[in-house]
Amino acid sequence: MIREAQAYPAEDCAAYSSTIKIVHWIMAVLIVINIGIASYMTPFDDSRAETEALYVIHKSIGLLLFGLVIVRLWAKTTSERVESLASLKKWEASASHITHLSLYVLLVAVPIFGYVQSSSYAYGGGVSLFGLQMPELVPDDIVIFELSAKLHRSSAYSLLVLVFLHVSAALKHQLFDEPKSKILGRIT
Ligand code: HEM
Ligand code: HEM
Repeated sequence: MIREAQAYPAEDCAAYSSTIKIVHWIMAVLIVINIGIASYMTPFDDSRAETEALYVIHKSIGLLLFGLVIVRLWAKTTSERVESLASLKKWEASASHITHLSLYVLLVAVPIFGYVQSSSYAYGGGVSLFGLQMPELVPDDIVIFELSAKLHRSSAYSLLVLVFLHVSAALKHQLFDEPKSKILGRIT
């Protein structure tokens, strides 16, 4: 215990609140599932019986993710700030802040673009949350549809790239830092 306290500065032993931890892992699993569903369901092919159901599930999980990021942002603003690991170099700490901030921006933006895209599409069934019909955000409009579809796709794939960087950095610090980093313990 004493040796551990000496080996690790106080910042490294800090941890996120239970709400942030639980929501972090639920979101991580749902994002992987939703990107998996999206890449299977597109391009739209109505000759496949499951296509329509997959769109409903994709939109529902997407809306659920939006709700979860709001809970997470609320938990973040109401809980104690967790400082970067003391062992990080200055550029690593800045890169980590920028990545976390960008992840949050994309976690909010991706579902909003998806919702706008689905609302503005004239021939779709709108948006439902596991069967509960949701209001339309914007009127049917081909220009809005095309723009929001592009934004949804590019922001979703940017999110995927950032997640890859984020996970690689977390694993690098956990497995290869000397002395051994406690980074995963902060979020588990
Ligand atoms: C879709 C997947 C993921 C997303 C969107 C995501 C997003 C985030 C965000 C935004 C934070 C910052 C928390 C805050 O400041 O409130 C964070 C923290 C963290 N995440 Fe993830 N994460 C994902 C998956 C993972 C995975 C798979 C791992 C494990 C390898 C991981 C490890 C961590 C760690 C260790 C932290 C704490 C970082 C620190 O203390 O500086 N994340 N994650
Ligand atoms: C964090 C949540 C979400 C993620 C990560 C995500 C991700 C993706 C990805 C990767 C694609 C495939 C893009 C392509 O290759 O064409 C896609 C397509 C799509 N998403 Fe999402 N999405 C999310 C939320 C939503 C929401 C909330 C809605 C609507 C309410 C939605 C509606 C759609 C639609 C309609 C498509 C199909 C586009 C097409 O047929 O070309 N998404 N999504």
